Amino acid sequence: MAQALLKGLAQNASKLENYQLQITGRDPQKARPFLQSLPIEVKILPPHGKKIEVQDSIVLLAIKPYGLKSLRYEGGAYMVISLLAGVGVPSLQTHVQSTHYVRCMPNIAAIHALSATTMYAPSAQKDEARAILECLGQVVEVESETLLDASLATNGSALAFLGMEAQGLISAGVCAGLSQEQASKLVAQSFAGFAKLLETSSPQEIIEAITTPGGATIAGISVLEQKAFKGILMQACQATIEKGRTLSN
Ligand SMILES: NC(=O)c1ccc[n+]([C@@H]2O[C@H](COP(=O)([O-])OP(=O)(O)OC[C@H]3O[C@@H](n4cnc5c(N)ncnc54)[C@H](OP(=O)(O)O)[C@@H]3O)[C@@H](O)[C@H]2O)c1
Repeated sequence: MAQALLKGLAQNASKLENYQLQITGRDPQKARPFLQSLPIEVKILPPHGKKIEVQDSIVLLAIKPYGLKSLRYEGGAYMVISLLAGVGVPSLQTHVQSTHYVRCMPNIAAIHALSATTMYAPSAQKDEARAILECLGQVVEVESETLLDASLATNGSALAFLGMEAQGLISAGVCAGLSQEQASKLVAQSFAGFAKLLETSSPQEIIEAITTPGGATIAGISVLEQKAFKGILMQACQATIEKGRTLSN
């Protein structure tokens, strides 16, 4: 996710002229080859032992949720923007001192600056946080941490669920005789077309536009309904949200 974040930020370098980007972590040197491939300058900041200096910085936390307690943050940051699933503001406050705290839930489409990102910002500096997160894609602000956790379903983990659906469609195409290459190309373009259609139509409108009474599409939909496809997806999302809330343990 940290790499996706940096790639997204790099695509909006002109909006970040007032910032100096630095990365650190347990072994930030590991990231050197990746950083050299970026079209922007990112300085590697070695940690002093397990201590990371954050004085007056905007700190974008992108480590594992349980990793937060394994590092020590020295000084008072200006703002902490945390990507960590399941780690609430009170927990962030005990680990990193800062004037402002923001939680967000992006997804890996940040790599193309196309993330759907939720943001929860209880403090006044939300415009600056939003401007940074908009470098990664679109931002939807939510009013509580509960809603931020809920957005694992709609954006944080959603791309994995869409991945499952894409795999299923490709396999179905291959099963019916298309080559793997043909099926993959067609499904990828169908997802791109669907994304464009969603800009102006609801999912229901798209379904209705394709579904002829007594036709082929409704025959398939009928099977999905019998197998409770939507209900299974909702259950899976619920499991993801519940697990997400425990990740800092
Ligand atoms: N993946 C997603 O789609 C997604 C979406 C939204 C939010 N997030 C959040 O983004 C964060 C990173 O997730 P990820 O999927 O990018 O994981 P990841 O690819 O496994 O990267 C984890 C990073 O955390 C560091 N780390 C792991 N354990 C640590 C520890 N004990 N102490 C300090 N650093 C530690 C790793 O450092 P080393 O290089 O030293 O191992 C690595 O840089 C998580 O908090 C997750 O909740 C992820």
